[in-house]
Amino acid sequence: MSNQLIEPHGGTLVDRRLPPDARAHALDAARNLMTVTLDERNLADLECLATGIYSPLDGFVGENDYHAIVEHARLGNGIAWPIPITLQVSDEQAAKISIGMDVALTDEGGSIVATMSVTDKYRPDQQHEAASVYGTTDPAHPGVAAMLERGATYLGGPITVVGDLPTSDFDDHKYDPHATRSEFARRGWSTVVAFQTRNPIHRAHEYLTKVALETVDGLFINPLVGTTKSDDIPADVRMQCYHVLLDHYYPKDRVHLGVYPAAMRYAGPREAILHAISRQNYGCSHFIVGRDNAGVGDYYGTYDAQHFFDTYTRDELAITPMKFEHSFYCKACGSMASAKSCPHDKSQHVFLSGTKVREMLANGELPPPEFSRPEVAKILVQAQRRNGKAA
Ligand code: ADX
Repeated sequence: MSNQLIEPHGGTLVDRRLPPDARAHALDAARNLMTVTLDERNLADLECLATGIYSPLDGFVGENDYHAIVEHARLGNGIAWPIPITLQVSDEQAAKISIGMDVALTDEGGSIVATMSVTDKYRPDQQHEAASVYGTTDPAHPGVAAMLERGATYLGGPITVVGDLPTSDFDDHKYDPHATRSEFARRGWSTVVAFQTRNPIHRAHEYLTKVALETVDGLFINPLVGTTKSDDIPADVRMQCYHVLLDHYYPKDRVHLGVYPAAMRYAGPREAILHAISRQNYGCSHFIVGRDNAGVGDYYGTYDAQHFFDTYTRDELAITPMKFEHSFYCKACGSMASAKSCPHDKSQHVFLSGTKVREMLANGELPPPEFSRPEVAKILVQAQRRNGKAA
């Protein structure tokens, strides 16, 4: 069955976790190594590298791949790869680390998670990285800010997990690519559409996922639960929304819900490609790309991410993007629609800005059912009351 699923990106699913019986010894040996502390974003990347979500990468990128990615959105060997997955350290720490050394990678509490064989140490031009990868050098861009606030020297090399990967409240919905592939095969799916989201599923999202589901075997709802910017709705609240929506409005046997542990970079077009590659590794053949995918503020054009997919050939990027126009509820049509399917003018369209929705929730008002299912709106209002902050 599983051979009907799409191949992993680059052909092989990476797994950099030592088997349990080899771990204790490796962990002991790692205690003698110099340590590098990983923050939450690094740890999320480490998990994606170790479990094969970022196949074919097997570690933090070295200098050659870094430059190829920044310049050409490809690895040094030509394989499509849009964002450098980097480990940045301070110059002070870098001075103590030389190429050829093994280092221990710890979490912020000091527990060793993995080891890394340092093959590369480099100090790139971060302004150039920002301009190429994020399309802006504005330090207010959350992805650029996250990059600039970390060290200026980058370490590269393959990683091996010898300890415990991070845990979270969502572990009962965390499946690595090996697990999702088995699950899709068990369900008899060969075409699966992935839905990346960092928001509760509103009517527009529901519309895209259901239109997509009409043409494939299964839908993988794969919300990102790593670090997001502070005004995004927290992942625990979003999870409640996904559950209530799935319970009431989706056929259980056609949908699988699993979390995506990565942090959000808000890199727009380049991140859309990273998100698609990750979902290919999970076993998905299709990827939903709607309006301003993975964007933030006004940094990217509404359909830039969709256009960026066209810069890769089918041989380079096997997963198929399913591109959607901006969708809305049309009162005259009495249904969800987009400019592609609706002849009516804007006065008939229910459109609410994020600010307006936050305002309504703050006042304890439910957004209209044309925008958000009442079950979802209720959870958002309750969360707003609990936290006393915008949801
Ligand atoms: S994202 O950062 O993960 O892209 P979000 O969770 O808002 O943000 O969106 C999830 C997916 O739905 C993305 O593919 C996005 O482009 C798409 N999307 C969100 N809202 C709309 C809309 N009104 N019309 C069309 N596509 C949309």
